[in-house]
Amino acid sequence: MAIERTFSIIKPDAVRKSAVGGVVALLEKAGLRVVAMKTVWMTKAQAEGFYAVHRERGFFGDLVKFMTSGPCVVQVLEGEGAVLKNREVMGATDSKKAAAGTIRAAFGTDIEQNAVHGSDSADNAKIEINFFFSGAELAALS
Ligand code: CMP
Repeated sequence: MAIERTFSIIKPDAVRKSAVGGVVALLEKAGLRVVAMKTVWMTKAQAEGFYAVHRERGFFGDLVKFMTSGPCVVQVLEGEGAVLKNREVMGATDSKKAAAGTIRAAFGTDIEQNAVHGSDSADNAKIEINFFFSGAELAALS
């Protein structure tokens, strides 16, 4: 499988419980490398823009409120099959259903406070990386 990049958010619930190091440890154990990382406290407009695909969903308002409730850590991860690998180590969207050993089982609470976000495809990874990281920040990685 090819080396690829994916995008990851350590959400406000995980940051609040000082789980950034714990999340990164599980990502690294799964074979993913952190190639860019920064803390971002999203504005309402940024969260609405990032999650625009969910705009019509009933949970959209709560999702935006949660994602703007405190700082997140946004990251670019790299590794073989990084998109799929990241989603495997994240676990099921609903933390209550996440398998043991996954990030959401370890640090999530429920379907909203689920500790992490990860891109669901290589195409969306590019879009999401470019949403948070500038060309100058990414140029240093290649
Ligand atoms: P994430 O991977 O960040 O992508 C969209 C998010 O919406 C998802 O994780 C969940 O945190 C959230 N979400 C999905 N479904 C629901 C739901 N039914 N109720 C509340 N939040 C949801």
